[in-house]
Amino acid sequence: MDQAEGLRNVIKAREAKMVGDPRIFAITSGKGGVGKSNTAVNLAIAFRKMDKRVIIFDADLGLANVEVMFGTVPRYSLKDFVYGDMELPEIITRGPMDIGFISGGSGMLSLNNLDEDQRQGLVYGLSRLSELCDILLIDTGAGVSDSVLDFVMASPEVLLVTTPEPSAITDAYSLIKAVFGRRDTGVRIPDISVVANKVISDAEGDAVFTKLSSVVDRFLNEKVKYMGCIPQDPLLENAVRSQKIVSIVSPASKSARAYFELANRLLGQEPQPEDTQTGLFRFFASFIK
Ligand SMILES: Nc1ncnc2c1ncn2[C@@H]1O[C@H](COP(=O)(O)OP(=O)(O)OP(=O)(O)O)[C@@H](O)[C@H]1O
Ligand SMILES: [Mg+2]
Repeated sequence: MDQAEGLRNVIKAREAKMVGDPRIFAITSGKGGVGKSNTAVNLAIAFRKMDKRVIIFDADLGLANVEVMFGTVPRYSLKDFVYGDMELPEIITRGPMDIGFISGGSGMLSLNNLDEDQRQGLVYGLSRLSELCDILLIDTGAGVSDSVLDFVMASPEVLLVTTPEPSAITDAYSLIKAVFGRRDTGVRIPDISVVANKVISDAEGDAVFTKLSSVVDRFLNEKVKYMGCIPQDPLLENAVRSQKIVSIVSPASKSARAYFELANRLLGQEPQPEDTQTGLFRFFASFIK
């Protein structure tokens, strides 16, 4: 199938309402090591239990996070789709419970030599992911670098993970500030939902959110939402240490149950309505300029 034909099929399918756009969540943090990859992988398991088709897109170009947790090394990356002649389903590695996994590779951010037709074709090609998943989880890197922010800004929904550690909360604030700092450029600001990880009680989770949201309110005059907390759980640490996923090896653990509740809450809330362009199209179009 050539790109033009692919494009026609996407438009046809969309007109016939055969394919809905998947929910897209960027999972991000200000500080590294606060639990993004665990959130991505365990939420993916929870969504699979709800019979949703899930793909994790690993946009953390530095570290091979998700693949370590999956124990599978992907053979291809997005690069092979963009520059090579691989079809979209071929670059998806299948992990536990048939969770799809796409490695971003490093090609995505250097696609500036395409003409308009090639760009449109490519973006529509990538939009066809909507036929393959109901939920796309993007594991971004940490911090306020442009590459992280680009993914955050492109995603309709953002899960910002922090721990109760003061430096993690401060760095989470810096990321929120950077996101709202792009407000003036006229771009759409994503919904930011905070997840407090490694808490010792629900009350500590509430306190983390209150600290963060009060500075966001006071200094930026903006709002962020609270999506809940994940307890500090030795069973999760054990699972990670043996390259396993806590929701699989210890589904009754407190962290696995909390991830399941979080997934339920996320499905229960309505996403911000998209404007003219659909979520996936907008998501990829913002990288391929
Ligand atoms: N709820 C939890 N309970 C106990 N330990 C946790 C929890 N969440 C994360 N950890 C610990 O923190 C470590 C880092 O978690 P994870 O790899 O998910 O973070 P990350 O934000 O993806 O890190 P990076 O920024 O390096 O990609 C894990 O290996 C685990 O030991
Ligand atoms: Mg990670």
